[in-house]
Amino acid sequence: MKFFLDTADLAEIEEAASWGVLAGVTTNPTLYSRIGGKLSGFHDHLKRICELTDGPVSGETVGLTRDEIVREGEELAALAPNIVVKVPVMPEGLAATKCLYDKGIKVNMTLCFTVPQAIMSARAGAFYVSPFVGRFDDISEDGIEHLANMVAALNNYDFGHSVEVIAASIRSANHVTQAALIGADIATVPFAVLKNIVKHPLTDRGLESFLADWEKVKNS
Ligand code: G3P
Repeated sequence: MKFFLDTADLAEIEEAASWGVLAGVTTNPTLYSRIGGKLSGFHDHLKRICELTDGPVSGETVGLTRDEIVREGEELAALAPNIVVKVPVMPEGLAATKCLYDKGIKVNMTLCFTVPQAIMSARAGAFYVSPFVGRFDDISEDGIEHLANMVAALNNYDFGHSVEVIAASIRSANHVTQAALIGADIATVPFAVLKNIVKHPLTDRGLESFLADWEKVKNS
């Protein structure tokens, strides 16, 4: 499984990239507003994220009609070669994905909650399909089970182009573990989750005893 960062924060992207684990970024205007960004600066900020990221960067469209989404998608795709256009699953989104596919622009179909939505996304030409895990947990359903169903269903078919599943709305280490066991291609995680999953108390304890033993060896 590859790790994407779900953020608009450049410092977080630089740090994750320095660990050698960053394979891509997903972002949206909401995440950008959380770091004080204004919509007018979003495209310039996306360009900067693309420069820092050695991998695909999904930027979200906000249009509601096919033509608006396609126009926004073309604008986003012109920003950098590693841009992927994030489009919500809905009839207009599917129609826009088909148009963008025909123009050679990659789409990440987002807000995916069901097996039919995932299959239709891939059929319309999405290169990435993003099931949301945590949002199911919010309504007391098992988001991991839904993710497993979507991964299994997509694996049944050849869509004639690459389709990768991005496990999104990931909130915990357990979500990451389960997504990997299910075989999701990618997990897009907030930086807080990335920092959490790199750690384990036994790693810390092992490091402490290693350092203590090393001191003894040095002083003997
Ligand atoms: O990539 C989608 C993500 O930003 C949604 O996460 O935690 O708001 O459900 P969350």
